[in-house]
Amino acid sequence: MRILFFGDVFGKPGRQLVIGNLPALINKHEVDFVLANCENLADGRGVTEKTLKQLIRFGVDGFTSGNHLWDREESFAFIAEEPKLTKPLNFPKKALGNRSYIMEKNGKKLEIITLCGQVYMPPANSPFEAFDEFWESRDQSIPLLVDFHGESTAEKRAFAWYVDERASALLGTHTHVQTADEEILPGGTAYITDVGMTGGHDSVIGVKKDIILQKMTTAMPIRYETSYRGTRINAVLVDIDETTNRATSITRINTPIEV
Ligand SMILES: [Fe+2]
Ligand SMILES: [Fe+2]
Repeated sequence: MRILFFGDVFGKPGRQLVIGNLPALINKHEVDFVLANCENLADGRGVTEKTLKQLIRFGVDGFTSGNHLWDREESFAFIAEEPKLTKPLNFPKKALGNRSYIMEKNGKKLEIITLCGQVYMPPANSPFEAFDEFWESRDQSIPLLVDFHGESTAEKRAFAWYVDERASALLGTHTHVQTADEEILPGGTAYITDVGMTGGHDSVIGVKKDIILQKMTTAMPIRYETSYRGTRINAVLVDIDETTNRATSITRINTPIEV
């Protein structure tokens, strides 16, 4: 099976990049499942029912998330109910949202989970322990894709070695900067430290750069605004052999497209 995974989709320009290009990408690459990290979907801050359902309508099958998932209180009830959206698995069990999602299409199955890192990140439980507990309780015949949402390259790399042979793919997100280290690990796990950001790259990780510079030079609070400049799709294509659940290829997409 072939999976297309979009790195953090940031605000309206990110959504427009996905919506405007998804049908052509699915056709061109013969994609079976489309995934996206949705933590910045609604103007960079969390997700809303309207923005997530818009992407579902245009063909996104499932969503990973991260530390910004719950930025909007008005979305709590929706996050608790929407099955296609996964919360970070290593957050407290009482945190709203689904722990995993199994999608099924044309006889193919894929399960997704999100984990958050602990290094330079808001407090979270051990991703290692959360993964082990989850792994023992799941149907291991279904291929598993893990979004590891973290700041530290070393932590992501270490975690990839930890789940090699178990996860079919371990894809890093959160930094919004795509890394050029994609590979298939010896046990068959497709890995990249960070898929990057689908949104405006003439910015500081999606936010207008003059606003971030003002904040950093004055240390005063300021309202963030989404950048529409330098829009790029950042994504990866991952191929998984369904007889072994091992990945056979991972290919980066880093394409400038105006919206
Ligand atoms: Fe993000
Ligand atoms: Fe994040």
